Formats: sequence, structure tokens, C-alpha cells
Amino acid sequence: MQKTILIIGACGQIGTELTIELRKKYGSENVIASDIREGGESLMQSGPFELLDATDYSAVEDVVMHYEIDEIYLMAAMLSATAEKFPMRAWHLNMNSLFHVLNLAKEKKISKVFWPSSIAVFGPNTPKENTPQNTIMEPSTVYGISKQSGERWCEYYNKKYGVDVRSVRYPGLISWKTMPGGGTTDYAVDIYHEALKNGNYECFLRADTQLPMMYMDDAIRATISLMEVPSENVKVRSSYNLSGMSFNPEDIAGSIKKHLPDFSISYAPDFRQEIADSWPSSIDDTLARNEWGWQPEYDLDQTTAEMLENLKK
Ligand code: SER
Repeated sequence: MQKTILIIGACGQIGTELTIELRKKYGSENVIASDIREGGESLMQSGPFELLDATDYSAVEDVVMHYEIDEIYLMAAMLSATAEKFPMRAWHLNMNSLFHVLNLAKEKKISKVFWPSSIAVFGPNTPKENTPQNTIMEPSTVYGISKQSGERWCEYYNKKYGVDVRSVRYPGLISWKTMPGGGTTDYAVDIYHEALKNGNYECFLRADTQLPMMYMDDAIRATISLMEVPSENVKVRSSYNLSGMSFNPEDIAGSIKKHLPDFSISYAPDFRQEIADSWPSSIDDTLARNEWGWQPEYDLDQTTAEMLENLKK
């Protein structure tokens, strides 16, 4: 039987590409996009769309019942930099939207949930290099606290109520179709836009700020493959470490210079430096590789080539 999928937060950086990919896979009519605002043309034109506030339980329930939804991908969230400015709003959005979806699954109104976690679950006391799946976490940002709590609740709903919830800890995501908003890793997207537009970029992180990153195609592939493996293979019900590449602003500038030799970068670290400094610089994702066959495809230079080529168009 064909399943029906709801994406909440479909107009964001991940949601847009996830929706388009799921529509290719499962048929446009079976993949319902929803967000608090309308999105770009490729998303709006490619299938059904509902305006939906993820914090409104009965609105979410109505959409689930109306379309007979089987699976939800909950991509609505306030990211790290914005969340530091609006702590209570971030907590409200990030936690309540998760509870709504977990409760719908607990009540068997849907059968499967994807919820994204982040490298932000780690904190200043976490080992920075090759950060293991299970280690000291102690996140120091509002966003990280919400993701860490969310992970605990996902595992709790799985263990206590049998909810089939699946999650990965995304690194910084690099993409050209939809701009990210309010994140600390966003510099790694902005830099490509500015390189093409102005030939220079003022970076809000220091030159040596090494962070885990991933090209969006890899992130979408990881997400969909985790959702497709048999439930018994998904041993981790909090969230899986996931790794693509790892670089700092100086490395990405060097990669851009191979295509645009005159490109220049300058540094003016702001409040986001402290957020970045609290996160790992690389991630050990052995469990994702062993339990559901994860393998990244894009390194920094391949990402740069894709980004510049597509943004030029
Ligand atoms: N990329 C996100 C951010 O920077 C982390 O998950 O907020």
C-alpha cells in the first residue's frame, strides 16, 4: 500500500529538498508539504501544500486525519543563533512541535516519525575530535538544550510506548536551493553566494573554527535511508551521529580560490563564535555506518564545485 507522508517545516533549507526528493520517490500526491509560510516555486508547484503552525496540536492533527498521514518528518525548528536571541520562543517551538508529533504516534494516528537532532547536542566538555556517539554532552546553547532534551524524549517514547521515531545529529548543512536561516554553520553557505557576487566574504567565525559539515545531497540520502531500514535495525532511538566532512573557514576559502583565484576572506567573529567553539570539530559516525550502511559521498572540493556551478545558474 502507498504510504502518505507529511513534512512539517517543508519550506526551510532541509525541508525543501527533502520534500522534492520524497515526491520523486513516493509520488507527488502522497507527500504533503506544510509550513507556517509559503515556500519557493519548485516546492509549491510540485504537490499538495498546507499552511500549518507546528505548535498548534489540533491543526497538525487535522492535517494528519484529513490526508490519512502515515509518516511525519518534523523539520520546523529555530536554529542556534536565533534561539540565543529568543530562548523561550525557541524552546516553545522546538519542544512542543516534537511532543505533538510524538503524541500522534503514541496514539497510533501515524506510524513513523523523523526528527532531526544536531551536533549542537554536544557542549564545551565534550571531546572535540571524532566525538563518539555516547559521551559527555552538556550543551551550552538554547538550541542544543532543546535538541538534547528532544533526543531523551524520542528515546523515552520509543522505549515506553513503542513509537517508531528515527533521528540523526546533522552537522552544518551546505546547499544552494534554499537559504538556511539563523544557524551558526550558515557561513559555509553565505560564503559561496558572496564569492560569486562580490569576490570577498567577511566571516563571522575565526579562520581556524573547525566544524563538522555535510553537503545537502548526502544529508537527504542519510535521512531517507534511515527512514527506510527495517525498524529492528534502528538500535539508537535518541539520535545517530552522522559525519560528512570537517573544515574551517580558511579551508573553504582555499577550496573556493581553486575556482575563483581572486576571492578573499576576512574575519570578524561575533556572538556565534562562542556557539561554534562549544561544538565538536569532527564526528565519529561508526554506528550509522554499521547499523544502516551510511556512507557520505561529498568532500569539501566536490561540495564547492557543486555550489559554485549551481549558484552561477
Ligand atoms: N546548523 C545548525 C546551526 O548552526 C546546527 O544544527 O544552528
